[in-house]
Amino acid sequence: MLASKRILLIISGGIAAFKALDLIRRLRERGATVTPVLTRAGTEFVTPLSVSALAGRKVFTDLFDLTSEAEMGHIELSRSADLIVVAPATADLMAKMAQGHADDLASTLLLATDTPVLIAPAMNVRMWQHPATQRNIAVLRGDGIMFAGPDDGDMACGEHGPGRMAEPLDIVSAIDRALADGPMKGRRVLVTSGPTHEPIDPVRYIANRSSGAQGTAIARALAGLGAQVVFVTGPADVPPPGGVEVHRVETAREMLAACEAALPVDVAVCAAAVADWRMATAATSKMKKTAGGLPQLEFAENPDILASLSQRAEGRPGLVIGFAAETDDLEANATAKRRRKGCDWIVANDVSAGTGIMGGSENAVLLITETGAEAWPRMAKDRVAAQLAQRIADALPSRL
Ligand code: C5P
Repeated sequence: MLASKRILLIISGGIAAFKALDLIRRLRERGATVTPVLTRAGTEFVTPLSVSALAGRKVFTDLFDLTSEAEMGHIELSRSADLIVVAPATADLMAKMAQGHADDLASTLLLATDTPVLIAPAMNVRMWQHPATQRNIAVLRGDGIMFAGPDDGDMACGEHGPGRMAEPLDIVSAIDRALADGPMKGRRVLVTSGPTHEPIDPVRYIANRSSGAQGTAIARALAGLGAQVVFVTGPADVPPPGGVEVHRVETAREMLAACEAALPVDVAVCAAAVADWRMATAATSKMKKTAGGLPQLEFAENPDILASLSQRAEGRPGLVIGFAAETDDLEANATAKRRRKGCDWIVANDVSAGTGIMGGSENAVLLITETGAEAWPRMAKDRVAAQLAQRIADALPSRL
C-alpha cells in the first residue's frame, strides 16, 4: 500500500532513534521512498551513514547545506513528500513545532509545508506528562498533526509509563492510515482478540493458549486499509496495534458488553478465543486445599459473542466473521459452525498439536463463505490478516 509513496522522515535526538532505522527498512520493504533528515541531536544517536545506507538516499542534516540547497531547496524537500513523519519526535522538537520555530533544517521543513505530518513521540514519562508537553500536544493536535503512540512500557532510562516510541510496525500502520484513501475508509469495524480469563477464585482462572497474534494482525491490517477499528481484547501475549480504539477485558461477559457497546459496526471479526465455560459462582476468597478433599467446580455456559452478534434482529453488522479452531474434520465442523452460529464467514484452522499454529507466527486457514470452502496456503499471520482484510474490503460494498 505504500508503493511509490514519498515519505520525508525526520529523526530527532532521542534514544529511540535506533528504531527509526528499522522503520526505514520496513517502509522501503513496502515500496515507499524514504528521504531522511537527521537533526543535529539525532546524529548523536544514529549516524548519517547508517541512515542513508538504509534509506538508499542522501541524508539531509543541516539547513545550510549549500549543495542540497542548490539541488533541492528545503521548501521543495518538504513539499515533494506525500507525508512527513517525525520518529522519534522529542519533547524539544514538539515544543518547537507547537511554537512555530524554524531554527534548524527539521523545524524549518515542518514550518514551511502544508504536507500532512505524523509524529511518533518518544521521551521520558515525566517529560511526556509535564504540563508544558501536554499543552504542546493539544496545540499540535489542533494544528492537525497526527500521532502514532507513544506506548506505555519500560524506558531506556529505567522508568515505566507512557513515552516509549511506538514500535516501527505500528508506526507503519499509522502511516498507512494517514495516507489511506483506503477501501475501508469510513467503515467501522469490531475485532475481538486474545483469550478470556474466567476466575475460579481471586487467584486462579480458566484460560487458553490464544496469544492474540492473529486478531491483532487483523485489526492492524483493517486499520491499514483505513477502517476505524474497535479492538476488544482479552489478556493477550502481544500488545494491541497502534491507531485502534482498544478495550481491554478479562471475561467473556465483559467482552460481550464491550462488543455491544461498540455497535453499530459495519463488520465484526470475532477472532477471540472465548472461554466456553465459566464458574457458576467464582469464589470470593482463595479456595483452600483440605486434606483428602477435591474442589467441586460447577460450570456455567458463557454467552456466545459471535452467535449473539450474528443473530441480532436489530443492528446486525453487515458482515460477521467467526473463527473455528478445530483438531478434527476441519471443513465439516467449520461449515456446521457457520450455520449454527449464523455468521457470514468462518476462518477455520487446524490447531492440532504439532501444527504450531496456536501461539505461533504462521497460520494455515480455510475460508468458509456462503459459496464454499477455500484453502489458503500456510503463511505468516500478518499475511493471513492482510488477505482477509482485503477480502472484507472487496465484499463490503455489496453487503451494506
Ligand atoms: O464455538 P467455537 O468456540 O469453536 O467458535 C469459535 C468462534 O466463536 C470464534 O470466532 C470465537 O471468537 C467465537 N466465540 C464467541 N463467544 C464464545 C465462544 C466463541 O464469540 N463464547
